Amino acid sequence: MPKPPFIAVVGSANVDLTTFHDLFPRPGETVFGKKFDLGFGGKGANQAVAARLSGASVAMVAKVGSDLFGPATIRNFESQGIDASHVRIAEGVSSGVAPIFVDPNGQNRIIVVKGANDALSPEDVDAAAPLLLKADTIVMQFEIPLRTVYYTLRFAESKGIRSIVNPAPAQQADLEQLSSADYFIPNETEAELIARMPVHSLEDASKCANYLLRRGIKRVVLTLGERGCLLAGPEGTELIPAFKVAAVDTSGAGDAFIGSFAVFLSEGLPEKEALTRANLYAALSTTKVGTQKSFVNRADFEQEWQIHSTRL
Ligand code: RIB
Repeated sequence: MPKPPFIAVVGSANVDLTTFHDLFPRPGETVFGKKFDLGFGGKGANQAVAARLSGASVAMVAKVGSDLFGPATIRNFESQGIDASHVRIAEGVSSGVAPIFVDPNGQNRIIVVKGANDALSPEDVDAAAPLLLKADTIVMQFEIPLRTVYYTLRFAESKGIRSIVNPAPAQQADLEQLSSADYFIPNETEAELIARMPVHSLEDASKCANYLLRRGIKRVVLTLGERGCLLAGPEGTELIPAFKVAAVDTSGAGDAFIGSFAVFLSEGLPEKEALTRANLYAALSTTKVGTQKSFVNRADFEQEWQIHSTRL
């Protein structure tokens, strides 16, 4: 059995407060919701959990608040076998939280209050350097300060460590600073905002990905929800189609994709197979409610892969 890859996530951790409802209240109105779910989330933490369940050794570098949620978040990482020695408590700050509103079609609206995630600094990255140096791949998102993302990217490049940047949630960023990322993985709305061009059709997606390549990004994977993902590099663009499943909640599907892709790629699988597998891992997550709770473990994934990959 080959040694499992080591994935480090420098990113966010939130607590997700999800309500399921038929009606969204108007200003001044109170309505009854149907169901509530409390779970661990945050794009960084979700990606770390997806990587761990996919079979990697995983370390998380993050900041949590000095409230009820902070220590519980650390315990959640530890209980999953994720190295949380560099998940530190920021005194006097709340943990990151995400009220999530899911409508009857499974469509979600998320408001993130970053809290302690905003305190994750380049100094925290320096403190974690001995751990990060062991990583096959370092994964980052945009729920922490961008200067910390840029700093971590420079660190990864200088040490020859593969890096993946997921620019979520969408916000303007300095493309030059991101150009050392080995993989840049936005969804349609993130790509639209960063490249300042519409991404509706496949043709738009291809134009947008090529624009990002011209701006110095090495490889772009533009995720397209139920259409799959578009891989773009100097050799051209290629659509990797999605798998059809009965989706009930798409929250965290992008995180499932990125965490599992980091593992498949770091195991040495060919890029296209790694992306195809990540498409399936993400699709499976949409068949259950929640973010981290909806991710499957490697053994269950392999069973599904046996079934679905024969239909490719
Ligand atoms: O991508 C889903 C995640 O976005 C949720 O877990 C929420 O915390 C927000 O970060």
